[in-house]
Amino acid sequence: MMYKNKQFYLRARPDGVVTDKAVTQREQIIESLEDGEMLIENQFISIDPAIRGWMSDEPSYMSPIEIGSVIRSSTVGKVVESRHQDYQIGDMVYGLSGWETFSVSNGFFMNKIPENSPYPVNYYLSVMGAVGLTAYFAITDRSGLKPGETLLMSAAAGAVGSIGGQIAKLMGCRVVGLAGSEEKCNWVKHLGFDDVINYKETTDMTAAIEKACPEGVDVYFDNVGGEILDAALLNLNSHARVLFCGSIASYNATEPVPGPYNWWQILARSAEVRGFLVSDYLDRFPEAALTIGEWVDAGKIEFKEDVVKGFDNCVTAFNRLFDGSNNGKMLIQV
Ligand SMILES: NC(=O)c1ccc[n+]([C@@H]2O[C@H](COP(=O)([O-])OP(=O)(O)OC[C@H]3O[C@@H](n4cnc5c(N)ncnc54)[C@H](OP(=O)(O)O)[C@@H]3O)[C@@H](O)[C@H]2O)c1
Repeated sequence: MMYKNKQFYLRARPDGVVTDKAVTQREQIIESLEDGEMLIENQFISIDPAIRGWMSDEPSYMSPIEIGSVIRSSTVGKVVESRHQDYQIGDMVYGLSGWETFSVSNGFFMNKIPENSPYPVNYYLSVMGAVGLTAYFAITDRSGLKPGETLLMSAAAGAVGSIGGQIAKLMGCRVVGLAGSEEKCNWVKHLGFDDVINYKETTDMTAAIEKACPEGVDVYFDNVGGEILDAALLNLNSHARVLFCGSIASYNATEPVPGPYNWWQILARSAEVRGFLVSDYLDRFPEAALTIGEWVDAGKIEFKEDVVKGFDNCVTAFNRLFDGSNNGKMLIQV
């Protein structure tokens, strides 16, 4: 066997926005597999904000990507060679590998897509993948959200936010979103959110949230941190929950990031901050994917994918997450 593999690898830790100084392409020849390994030809690559954190060497829930290593990400692809007893040539698989056209895997963090799956394979990186599962578990389990309560969702037009808001609506909650353009706000309204704030056009965020959430905020789903978090803190109800899912506003920061200025409101309102990590729910992924699939089939959940064609575009697509020019779950079609 002889396969030419294209990879993006970490040449240096990025300082701010990722450029080709930090993440560079190279070619590699794959000539053989060890016993227990398979070769996957990747079809779709998931482009996620979290990857920016893995490029840094700060302590986190996963070890940093080492200098010289391929950029870690989820992918979906087809097994083209196998010396692994559980995988045959032709199996479709999804799981953790990297920004590369072929991946050698020993099956760690890999799952088979059922042969009779009615869904396009890319769904396993979007609505039925980590972002859909994040939205599902964060809302139904970790947030403590109850019917009738008000949820404020940041990055509401994005992959996690759009799905999470719709799940909260299914639970009978009032849901208000924040998004960064008129087009995105229209999409969020179309999804059934009760109100939406274009935060890029808002000069007084605290007042805008107060107006959209006249009964206060019971759960703030934080995907962004920064100014929006500070404004949300000033609108929390007593015993509210701040679900800390992400902090994209600071992922490319080049200076130390200050903590929330309005942190005192957590005490003043007997509120709680709850960190959320989707990997804590690994053993419940199949159950959740089933439910999400049913909602999608029934037309209860809609979602968008922003599919960029061409492996060479990984870095450009990645950077679109941070200027808001992505329109749904960002994927590369290899
Ligand atoms: N904890 C977990 O287990 C877990 C798992 C998956 C994802 N996450 C987190 O969930 C969040 C959303 O991820 P996603 O994959 O669904 O991405 P996404 O929302 O589809 O895309 C990112 C969006 O963030 C918004 N954004 C970017 N910079 C911003 C800023 N400075 N201020 C406010 N908004 C900004 C942009 O939307 P606008 O155009 O509206 O600004 C952009 O489209 C991220 O923070 C990610 O790290 C956490």
